[in-house]
Amino acid sequence: MKYIVANWKSNKTTEESLDWLNNIKIKLSQINPKNISNLEIIVAPPVVFLPLMKKIIEENSLPIKLASQDVSPYGFGPYTGAVASFMLEGLADYAIIGHSERRKLFLEDDQILEKKVKLAVEAKLRPIYCVQDAQTYIPQKVDIVAYEPIYAIGTGQPDSPENANKVAGQVKQKKDIHILYGGSVTEANIGNYLCCSYIDGALIGGASLDADNFWEIIINASTN
Ligand code: PGA
Repeated sequence: MKYIVANWKSNKTTEESLDWLNNIKIKLSQINPKNISNLEIIVAPPVVFLPLMKKIIEENSLPIKLASQDVSPYGFGPYTGAVASFMLEGLADYAIIGHSERRKLFLEDDQILEKKVKLAVEAKLRPIYCVQDAQTYIPQKVDIVAYEPIYAIGTGQPDSPENANKVAGQVKQKKDIHILYGGSVTEANIGNYLCCSYIDGALIGGASLDADNFWEIIINASTN
């Protein structure tokens, strides 16, 4: 099983997100579902789009799982602006936690991220925990890690498959978990990562925003 995760970050209007999903829905209807049964396709839209997307996915039985891009380090209570994990229970299956943009722009450290992981797991969200190198601390309850070197994110300068595989191997030596690679993954290079022995999937930002591009990523990933 390979994990293909689309991280839209803070992009798209409601209309654009519905267009994207509709486009993917049409493409899914044109293939044999068995062709992509080796993939876990996960989409992480901005949190406000989750309910509507969940409804469409369920109504059409689409083979797509949803993820939140983040969760609050707190539960219910006086935390203005925060979305608690418990609010996402039943709405998303996964939660991206510790993305380097959260660490850098929102000053999230290991302690905060550990709290987020704990609450996400309590709310039955499976964390996809982002690390920047093999040394980054990984909380105990995490079983999917995305290796995303900062220089490769949104730059068009991905890490080499050889190095990404080496880092994935180093992380796996410490902990038996699934490792995704993220950072300038495209439809053109995804195959180079998925054929690496230690890499179990990809986290895709920019190239996931366009449904046609993302579909090509899915098709290329399904043959690996
Ligand atoms: P990118 O982003 O694919 O645009 O490089 C990846 C990520 O930040 O998750």
